[in-house]
Amino acid sequence: MILDEYPRYQASPYPDRIILLPGTQGELSYQVSWRTDESVAIAEAEIALASSSPSLSVDAKTVQGNTLPLTAGNGLAHHHAIEFSQLKSDTLYVYRVKGAGVWSEWFQFRTPDAVNPFPFEVLYFGDAQNSVKSLFSRVVRQAVLSTRNPSLMIHAGDMIDRLGIQDNNWGEWFEAMSWIAPSILQLPVPGNHEYNETTMPPQRVPQWDAQFVSAKNGPAGFEQTVFYTDYQNVRFIVLDSTRAIHDESAAIAQAQWLTQVLSTNKAQWTIVIYHHPMMSVSHGTPNQMLTEHWRPLFEQYGVDLVLQGHDHVYGRSGFPDTEAVGPVYVVSVAGPKMNLVSEAATNTLAVTGEDVQLYQSITLSSSQLRFEARTVTGEVYDRFVLEQLPGGGNTLMDDFTPLGKSPRSICSKAGQVPAQVDASGTPRPGRCWDGMVWR
Ligand SMILES: [Fe+2]
Repeated sequence: MILDEYPRYQASPYPDRIILLPGTQGELSYQVSWRTDESVAIAEAEIALASSSPSLSVDAKTVQGNTLPLTAGNGLAHHHAIEFSQLKSDTLYVYRVKGAGVWSEWFQFRTPDAVNPFPFEVLYFGDAQNSVKSLFSRVVRQAVLSTRNPSLMIHAGDMIDRLGIQDNNWGEWFEAMSWIAPSILQLPVPGNHEYNETTMPPQRVPQWDAQFVSAKNGPAGFEQTVFYTDYQNVRFIVLDSTRAIHDESAAIAQAQWLTQVLSTNKAQWTIVIYHHPMMSVSHGTPNQMLTEHWRPLFEQYGVDLVLQGHDHVYGRSGFPDTEAVGPVYVVSVAGPKMNLVSEAATNTLAVTGEDVQLYQSITLSSSQLRFEARTVTGEVYDRFVLEQLPGGGNTLMDDFTPLGKSPRSICSKAGQVPAQVDASGTPRPGRCWDGMVWR
């Protein structure tokens, strides 16, 4: 038996896959989703102001939500979602979610501070995708443990693959995240591996909508994958590049919505996240739907930072300059699948690199955005600072020379691992490491 095809994440009466997500009523609302077996018919949670006493349930308020039955590779599960709304600013809350006669543990989270928003720190992860439990888990632990109280965790798509029983992939992702996803606000972004692309239009894997209830402020027809959320004077905008690259009308519909969201934006910083890069770092070619319909808007409305995935390498635009710079584009990778950097990207980007598992810390303050990519072993891999100019735009400072002209790290095991062919034996000349746990 191929163990990947063994259903090892069946739902039980105990809540699992618990995750804290943006609410539908602004930054003082949150949604929580979780999963149980079919013995739990009603979505129910408790929330209270946090205190140091263990008697948390005495003053807790009960909140009920929605339950969605879904049969996937691990059998029937009930996916539950509730919303906590009208919360107080800068306040520590506790909550727990209900199973069949049992509760989850209590989780703590602090609401955003509207009066003194800065500084705060967020984490950004590229594709996890393969061998998620084996090789993504340590990235998550290193990232959170090396960061002082992160406020948000961003996942730029391809959080899973589609191998074996696909629901096992989700089981691994939630297992890797289970100790932290209920306590820190998570921003999941869909990639191509969250879709089945063998039929057009691509069909989203059913777990996505069940697990990642959205803020529901996206354009019509894209409510489950496109949204924005404001957090302490920063606007985070999530787009669906998978649908955009396959269908120009999907790129245009998102562009129209984006125009509205950017033109009315009063936030100090604006960060856009989607999966397929504007310019591929591994292939060195543009994604035309994105360059045509999205990039002009990023430039016109002063988007500061664009976070992407998909290429399984590292790449970052933006050379140090005293003039105003446009959006800085980043591609990164968290999981183990590794591609090679193209020559075109090496020659045009400020920083590139391959064969390295990374996470990124972004610290936002009133006039500076400090970006740091770190390896899974904790070393600084890339670093720059954006400083807002009085007349608009940013200047980019980079004390981490030398920039450009050669990848910061290169594929170290070329020829030593069976990486250059895929599972069917097809040659993959641009591949360094396929990320399979049994290799
Ligand atoms: Fe991808």
